[in-house]
Amino acid sequence: MTSAASQPNPSLAGPARVLVVGGGGRENALGWALARSHGVERVWVTPGNGGTTELTGVAQLTVAESDHTGLLEICHSEAIDLVVVGPEAPLAAGLADRLRQAGFAVFGPGADGARLEASKQWAKALMQEAGVPTAGYWPANSLEQALTALETQGQPLVVKADGLAAGKGVTVAETMDEARAAIEEIFAGRFGEGEGASLVLEERTVGPEVSVFALCDGERLVLLPPAQDHKRIGEGDTGPNTGGMGAYAPAPLIDAAGLAEVRRLVLDPTLAALRARGIDYRGVIYAGLMLTASGPSVIEFNCRFGDPECETLMPLLGPELAAVLLACARGRLDQAPELTIAPRCSACVIAAAEGYPGEIRKGDPIDSQLQNRDDLQLFHAGTRRLEDGRCVSSGGRVLALVAQADDFDAAFAQAYAGLAQVQFEGMTYRRDIGHQVRRA
Ligand code: AMP
Ligand code: GLY
Repeated sequence: MTSAASQPNPSLAGPARVLVVGGGGRENALGWALARSHGVERVWVTPGNGGTTELTGVAQLTVAESDHTGLLEICHSEAIDLVVVGPEAPLAAGLADRLRQAGFAVFGPGADGARLEASKQWAKALMQEAGVPTAGYWPANSLEQALTALETQGQPLVVKADGLAAGKGVTVAETMDEARAAIEEIFAGRFGEGEGASLVLEERTVGPEVSVFALCDGERLVLLPPAQDHKRIGEGDTGPNTGGMGAYAPAPLIDAAGLAEVRRLVLDPTLAALRARGIDYRGVIYAGLMLTASGPSVIEFNCRFGDPECETLMPLLGPELAAVLLACARGRLDQAPELTIAPRCSACVIAAAEGYPGEIRKGDPIDSQLQNRDDLQLFHAGTRRLEDGRCVSSGGRVLALVAQADDFDAAFAQAYAGLAQVQFEGMTYRRDIGHQVRRA
């Protein structure tokens, strides 16, 4: 690892005009990092949030991520050199294909590659074909087929809805009844398709979970440091699943040799299998891994950066980021500058709205005394700015407080001290984020 250069180097020039699509904490962090990248003249974020309106070098637009025609118009009117698509839904709906057909460079896979996340059956078949380690599975396309597979296995399996389910499509069943209920719910149309629904049943695996991100140009890839998310709402990793309540990186669960092994066993063969299917995958492959007693096993693939892993990782990346993403978008990672990674520890804590992940309260003014520093970032997620300029909460995960230091104790101390300077009515957060790596 080399440390991030602080002096701009014109020979590493990136794209001058960058568009980031999305409105969460992930896109706030991407906009912030890209605006600091070499060679970037201006960044547009759409639809953004209450934080992206305040970022230096960033302009906010109001076009929704689902409005592909509106997004294409921005690319033309602002002469965009690079589009970075944050969320999975527009990728699965073919946004990257549409913009590429019009001649724009896009970091994000087409609808074909986005199936890695959008269809669990498809992703499992690809993994099996490529010999990627993952739990054994049984696909099912009808209620009867699913129940028969469950009874034949005779143990409560993991039940996964096939399509995008906003993080709510997975049940790790403890009992046969729970597994049956989860299967019935999927075929009753809970995730939108009713009788046309499909799912996979999976063997249960055990071990710590870690997220690994590969930036791909269709043929080559570069890895980011591993990050660990905290999915449960409650301290001690209890209670319902959320989008993620905090993260840290680099996760020491995987050292340099372990990361090289993950590349060899998981990411290289996955990218090769995509190519073998004629898919030119230019974007992030997010491997959600479980480190089992017999080695890493893929729990899921996503076709985008994780959130809050992205907020955690961006401050560690050097100013070559825009040039690297552009090189991926052009299929020329071989011509990209090396992405420098600061040898520091990054800690991220999410402040959520009261009630999250259930019914949430919204519209509470955000009160922040926090001063921006090089090693402390307040990224907005579910916030919006009112016409009078005030910023209010508007979603479940409201803010991400991220800090970097030489060790995790110091990084988390800084992140929590920063959080103490930010308030909104009903703000909740976990106090034990990073318990795996903190001594204090
Ligand atoms: P997802 O909604 O796909 O992020 O999955 C939610 C969570 O379900 C994962 O983070 C894991 O904790 C758990 N999970 C998924 N697949 C398995 C599996 N095969 N064995 C055990 N736990 C799993
Ligand atoms: N942090 C988990 C995800 O982005 O899916």
